[in-house]
Amino acid sequence: MTGTTPHTPTGFVRRDLASLDPNGPEIASLRQGFQVLRDRSAANPNDPRGWLVQANIHAISCSHSNWWFVSWHRAYLWYFEQILREASGDPTLTLPYWNWTDNPTFPQVFMGSGNPLNDPNRNLPNTPADPAFVGQPEIDTILNTSDFGTFGGAESPSPRVRTRAGMLEGVPHNYIHRYVGGDMANQNTAARDPIFWLHHANVDRLWAEWAARNPGQSPTSANWLNAPFQFFDVTGTVVTITTDDVLSTLNLGYQYDTLSGTPDAILMEEGIMSDANAREPELVAQAASGPSVISGQPITVTLSRSAPAADAITAEGTEESTGTLRLDVEGVEAPMDNLDVGVRVFLNLPDADASTPHTSPHYVSSFTFFEHMHGDASDEYHQGVEALMGQGGDAGHEGHEGHGENESHAHGTQTFSLNLTPTIQKLQAAGLYQAGDPLDVTLVAIPLRSAAESDALAADAAAASVTIPFQGVSLTRV
Ligand code: C2O
Repeated sequence: MTGTTPHTPTGFVRRDLASLDPNGPEIASLRQGFQVLRDRSAANPNDPRGWLVQANIHAISCSHSNWWFVSWHRAYLWYFEQILREASGDPTLTLPYWNWTDNPTFPQVFMGSGNPLNDPNRNLPNTPADPAFVGQPEIDTILNTSDFGTFGGAESPSPRVRTRAGMLEGVPHNYIHRYVGGDMANQNTAARDPIFWLHHANVDRLWAEWAARNPGQSPTSANWLNAPFQFFDVTGTVVTITTDDVLSTLNLGYQYDTLSGTPDAILMEEGIMSDANAREPELVAQAASGPSVISGQPITVTLSRSAPAADAITAEGTEESTGTLRLDVEGVEAPMDNLDVGVRVFLNLPDADASTPHTSPHYVSSFTFFEHMHGDASDEYHQGVEALMGQGGDAGHEGHEGHGENESHAHGTQTFSLNLTPTIQKLQAAGLYQAGDPLDVTLVAIPLRSAAESDALAADAAAASVTIPFQGVSLTRV
């Protein structure tokens, strides 16, 4: 990294928010830090170390739906944490994480008027976060997905260009943004809500956990490693940092309280050195159909295997021997007029509908939407961040001047990747799938804001009017 980044001492531990005493010193420091950041922005909206400018960095330069999703946000949190620590006056402050898997109810300590951790714009439902998106089985599937692209997103020309979202982003990450609602539901304002940082600390923890579980699986491409990201450091100076700089949390001076065993730094190091597990992606099946629409009526597409791959999809054994079967729902257009909708994906269950439970063995996974919403180009979101725009890489401009995939909500599309291997294994084990069987993929729109499973009628009605265009479905072995 370049610039005036101070060397960060090691030994910081990011802890589970639920393990902290609501009346203890850690929460008091967090409150104090956010209060100071808010005061800075109130005094000077252009203060690079204030709450507003820090949030605007996200509006203009966040990386989504590509393979920099995890590393851009790690770097963003790292600089923010240093700014917050300095502001709090507590040299031991670290960002806690909100483990929405273990604690799916929104943390009380971030609520209440007059609380600097509150955001009055939230739109929280009165139900806990849905285990279909954040439950342990789903998280395990994600962490055991060895293919980085399926886990964390695909190659892209630049950090601001969307291509394909991995499961970590498309399943729990996007969902929690919609679940909290308000500022959090919109990429332009998400980081104004203090819970943003704890949500992303949890996402970051899951990346560290993935890296520890999947040595040798991280990309080695110079494009991934060296693309520059820009932030403000603790002195308010523009700094440049890359993915290569943030691969190891230990090198950044912190770790998570849950990660045990081999330090992720070592595993990551091995990951970078080894491509023993690299395999050529092989398209094994795709749907013949062209552009189509996911709507209130579930839609089923039939994948046909390409000839040489006719018997490739047996998925015997573990993912290590068969690889990841990456199911891509391609060219998906977000339903901008009703973003509180998710899409559930089922294999070989053409009758699936909004009432089919995610616990069905035919269930693959889901995806949800987290978008830049209207007023994207508004000056409000550029306040104080001009220094980051047009310097060095693409931060800022790409996708913001009217042509980018980020900018045009109505026309920008993205692909969502899901790991099909665990579903095929489950179906095989239950005697419901044999090599060579048809591969029917059913896409079901579900509302995010009713308890879908217990209220199927309301669910159907709410999702009935939605229209989600997509370009196709394909299956690739990686
Ligand atoms: Cu760039 Cu969860 O957001």
